[in-house]
Amino acid sequence: MSRVLVAGGTVVGAEGSVRADVLVDGETIVALLAPGTELAAAAAAGAERTVDATGKLVLPGGIDVHTHMEMPFGGTFSHDTFETGTVAAAWGGTTTIVDFAIQSKGSTLGAALDAWHAKADGNCAVDYGFHMIVSDVNDTTLKEMDTMLGEGISSFKLFMAYPGVFYSTDGEILQAMQKAADTGATIMMHAENGIAIDVLVAQALARGHTDPRFHGVTRPSALEGEATFRAIQLAKVAGSPVYFVHLSATEALVEVARARADNGNVWAETCPQYLYLTDDAMEGPGFEGSKYVCSPPIRPAGHGAHLWRGLATETLSVVSTDHCPFCFKEQKELGVGDFSKIPNGLPGVEHRMNLIHAGVAAGHLSTERFVELTAAAPARLFGMYPRKGVVAPGSDADIVVYDPAATDTISATTHHMNVDYSAFEGQTVTGRVDTVLSRGSFVIDGGRFVGRAGHGRFVRRGLNQMLR
Ligand code: URP
Ligand code: ZN
Ligand code: ZN
Repeated sequence: MSRVLVAGGTVVGAEGSVRADVLVDGETIVALLAPGTELAAAAAAGAERTVDATGKLVLPGGIDVHTHMEMPFGGTFSHDTFETGTVAAAWGGTTTIVDFAIQSKGSTLGAALDAWHAKADGNCAVDYGFHMIVSDVNDTTLKEMDTMLGEGISSFKLFMAYPGVFYSTDGEILQAMQKAADTGATIMMHAENGIAIDVLVAQALARGHTDPRFHGVTRPSALEGEATFRAIQLAKVAGSPVYFVHLSATEALVEVARARADNGNVWAETCPQYLYLTDDAMEGPGFEGSKYVCSPPIRPAGHGAHLWRGLATETLSVVSTDHCPFCFKEQKELGVGDFSKIPNGLPGVEHRMNLIHAGVAAGHLSTERFVELTAAAPARLFGMYPRKGVVAPGSDADIVVYDPAATDTISATTHHMNVDYSAFEGQTVTGRVDTVLSRGSFVIDGGRFVGRAGHGRFVRRGLNQMLR
């Protein structure tokens, strides 16, 4: 469809909200028009379709900068393909994902990028980009961090956890950060002290503590706080920007707040599971607790309230999902009798927008901050703004018509993610996605998915646009 008018709604951006009709031509937003004016009437007359957004919010399409589709982990793969995962994303009002290509130890970043393009290209229902996980920092990969920029990969994830798999030493982290300081790339950090955690895991298993809840016990929040502090110091020495992924703990939040108050190029995201769930979830009957095993782990009560406050006060900059779904049957069950073998990760890409909008209804956030956290800030931090993350002339027509008053109940029986449970089963949220356009094409329309796998296009990202 070439000309679409989204009429009568309230357009929400990070900086404010305005009543406006949004005119789309082809893949692009061409104008915001004052409703009821001659110009708006002319636009309506010339449009092939008018979407009535009266009483609704008109949001920039959500951007989830942390997903893992078809990710290899512990002898299995996360269960959403790029097709099923991006269809689920669209249902939830997310029109861009940034997934992680993974360099295997001994291989190259180039090979990882090729492998992830092979999985995603032609299969995505919405737009997608990649970060790069660097598992092997060496002279070759450090050079490849330069060439990756030309491929639209401007962010590199390093792990202080998972020794022997993804883990990098402090020296390797420093070298990668020095490279990022030279090029303007952003280092993304999984901050948990994996060396200490591995000792605690071995000790727990030796005592016969094999249930899922010991996943949480052996990854204490102090070890996330310690790793966060250490990474901030390394970034300061290197002069590099650092972005903490899936921040879960008060101790880590305090470190990020301190670094940001010092004017550091330091940012962090959190995820809905850390805002809504507590470690009680891992105590469920039988092996149910395995459904909530992710790293960092779901924390005890108290951390979540601090994270909501961190979102409101700008210590935290983004909400992503870390969508990494493993079915309960046969996948999570790989860890029966040994919690350390439970594949780590939770499903969530479909429900991020509703779960964070529920924070508006609960009084934690303004509607504008909701948009900033879920679309505008991820676009700026990962080099996609203003093409993405804003409803403005010249931007891609990634638009969500959102009913802020409707309520919905999350359930695995109705979700579209390719996984047999929901981490938020039975939770009622305020807000519902009505209509979704991705680059001007209808993807969700009248309660139906009308998009197609292959519509989604690779987004070549530029550098972080929030450097101070
Ligand atoms: O448990 C998690 N978070 N799984 C995905 C991999 C990662 O560390 O982000
Ligand atoms: Zn991680
Ligand atoms: Zn992740």
